[in-house]
Amino acid sequence: MKKIFITGGAGFIGSALIQQLEKKAYEIFVMDNLSFGNRSFINVPEARFFKADIREPNVITGILKSVQPDTVIHLAAIHFIPYCNQHPFEASDINIRGTMNILDAVKKIDSVKKLFFASTAAVYPIADTAVRETHELLPLDIYGLSKHTGERLCNEFHKETGIPTIICRFFNAFGPNETNPHLIPEIQAQINNGIRKIRLGNLTPKRDFIHTYDMALAIEMLLEKFEHGIDVFNLGRGIEYAVTEVVEAFEKHLEEKVEIEIDPQKVRKVERMHLLADITKIKDFTGWVPRITLEEGIKTLISQKPTING
Ligand SMILES: NC(=O)c1ccc[n+]([C@@H]2O[C@H](COP(=O)([O-])OP(=O)(O)OC[C@H]3O[C@@H](n4cnc5c(N)ncnc54)[C@H](O)[C@@H]3O)[C@@H](O)[C@H]2O)c1
Repeated sequence: MKKIFITGGAGFIGSALIQQLEKKAYEIFVMDNLSFGNRSFINVPEARFFKADIREPNVITGILKSVQPDTVIHLAAIHFIPYCNQHPFEASDINIRGTMNILDAVKKIDSVKKLFFASTAAVYPIADTAVRETHELLPLDIYGLSKHTGERLCNEFHKETGIPTIICRFFNAFGPNETNPHLIPEIQAQINNGIRKIRLGNLTPKRDFIHTYDMALAIEMLLEKFEHGIDVFNLGRGIEYAVTEVVEAFEKHLEEKVEIEIDPQKVRKVERMHLLADITKIKDFTGWVPRITLEEGIKTLISQKPTING
């Protein structure tokens, strides 16, 4: 049975991915410091769960030596942009040095045949149309910069080891088990608390929201198909949604009117108006197609308890 080792596996996307991979014949191992993730999100047995920090190189090497995984999926990071902007040293320490530690530890064992790195749409500059993987890279903030560096580190790692390496640029994920106060859980939390006049930040930006179950399937298909070299894939839904459309999806399922009030405290000073993925490459390579619409995904969030830590 193939062994898959997932850093940050107890998080939002990790928990959806594990649910998907559990359907196949994989043995799943998780390393997470549970700073944002939650042990209860995943069914992985204690013997295969390591509560550890990616800033601890010796600990990581010890764990990887004991597991001897075939595939390493590196999801662990901090990524809520306002938090990263307020804590730039912590963000770069975890996202850059932590990534270096994982890559270095992988180099010390022979078992790994594939590496997957979770990057982000935040590596792209502001653009008014859908971005392809070949678009120039120009991160706007410390988070995007840290992930851009992570991509560069993966390139160096691949050059040195020849291990097949997938860099996947995630767009805006939504679904169950959200861990960070992003837009959709923010609306979800207020609505599920019975509020019908919700307070939000910027209303005009549009985002490419993709359900974590669709992401999980795409990642699994990428892992199955990808055999050689290093390559980059966008992972989004390929559709842009405005904040008002998200609220309308909630309204539709609630069958109630929801008013929006601008909360100046929540308005971000630097904001992209658009963030849309061109997903032709991943679709052509894997045969994957996203299936869950924003409306369907939102339906499952109504009446679900918010899961954000702290
Ligand atoms: N959610 C999104 O919309 C989105 C978009 C683009 C990219 N990403 C990337 O996808 C990956 C997963 O994101 P997510 O949304 O599941 O976030 P998440 O915060 O739920 O998951 C990250 C996990 O990493 C763990 N972690 C954080 N710091 C750690 C450390 N120092 N050592 C060990 N574990 C640590 C957290 O406890 C958490 O479980 C991240 O790399 C993120 O940057 C997410």
